[in-house]
Amino acid sequence: EVPSLKEVYKDYFYIGAAISVDSVSKSPDKELIAKQFNIITPENAMKFEPIHPQDGIYNFEPADKIVEFAQRNDMKVIGHTLIWHNQTPDWVFKDADGNQVDRDVLLKRMEEHIKAVVGHYKGKVYGWDVVNEAIEDTAPYGLRDSMWKKIIGDDYIEWAFKFAHEADPDAELYYNDYNTETPGKREAIYNLVKSLKGKGIRIDAVGMQSHINIYYPSVQEIEESIKKFSSLGVKVNISELDMDLYKWDEKEDRYKDGVPDDILKLQADRYGEIFALYRNYKDVIGRVTFWGYYDGGSWLNDFPIKGRTNYPLLFDREFKPKPAFWNVAKFAQ
Ligand code: G3I
Repeated sequence: EVPSLKEVYKDYFYIGAAISVDSVSKSPDKELIAKQFNIITPENAMKFEPIHPQDGIYNFEPADKIVEFAQRNDMKVIGHTLIWHNQTPDWVFKDADGNQVDRDVLLKRMEEHIKAVVGHYKGKVYGWDVVNEAIEDTAPYGLRDSMWKKIIGDDYIEWAFKFAHEADPDAELYYNDYNTETPGKREAIYNLVKSLKGKGIRIDAVGMQSHINIYYPSVQEIEESIKKFSSLGVKVNISELDMDLYKWDEKEDRYKDGVPDDILKLQADRYGEIFALYRNYKDVIGRVTFWGYYDGGSWLNDFPIKGRTNYPLLFDREFKPKPAFWNVAKFAQ
């Protein structure tokens, strides 16, 4: 009998997964998701482009299906994501003549978008990734030069949080990013959250996406970030966990015919160590969400190289638990 992670971790934190709209009406996907997880994140369905493709036109139906599935199965829903530089349609930044809009127009559009989407899911979404990936990857780790920042200015972030809070005062609000273990980025996120809190803006957690690989970051670097962010009095969400078998710059499709046992063992050991760390921080970690649930459905099969075979999750392509699953599920409680 395969244990249920949400049961195993019920005294620690929520256990979640990112899911597609298709998965909620497919077997064995829907059964596996309902058994293993108690919190889910729509992988794409609530992003700006799919949910608000044209001015005044909202497409809530796909995300609604996910929310209904969650409610039927007694799971919470995380809203992902309101303001991001990616997957945002061009019309948002342009007027009818194709010229760039000004600050006032864009702030108005931002407000309308956030209030429509958060309002639609008021009381149904537990927490929102309000702003996603706003910080640069390289020194000096300033704010990313997105259209939001270019047109509105640095305060676009606080406006996004304010609008989200007005739309659903009971929802938790998060800042979400990747490479949160890099010292410079860790510092920049810390400073951003500190300044938001200083202005009295509601922010409940930092989302550490945790798209890691089998080599790095180290457990110690992850721990440093959990400590640093939680020292601000916010929680930490492990929001998009997966473990790539390749290093960032590797080009080969080395495991297309299968993975050697020693690599799966390495992955399992590392997943085990990382979850041991998470358990030590159960008082500050709100949830651990995997970015997907089985290897065949992971975005890492298409990124950074399209069609490359990857194995980053706990269930294999046949939906069977991998060694990594057992190392996460079995520990002395
Ligand atoms: O919706 C179209 C569909 O109509 C079309 O038939 C299909 C053909 O390729 O493409 C579909 O869009 C794709 C979409 O996923 C839905 O499958 C996009 O091309 C593809 O780029 C998109 O990728 C998503 C990616 O975000 C976009 O940047 C991944 O699924 C999703 O896992 C990934 O998730 C992000 C988080 O939101 C933020 N953090 C990083 C994480 C991984 O990149």
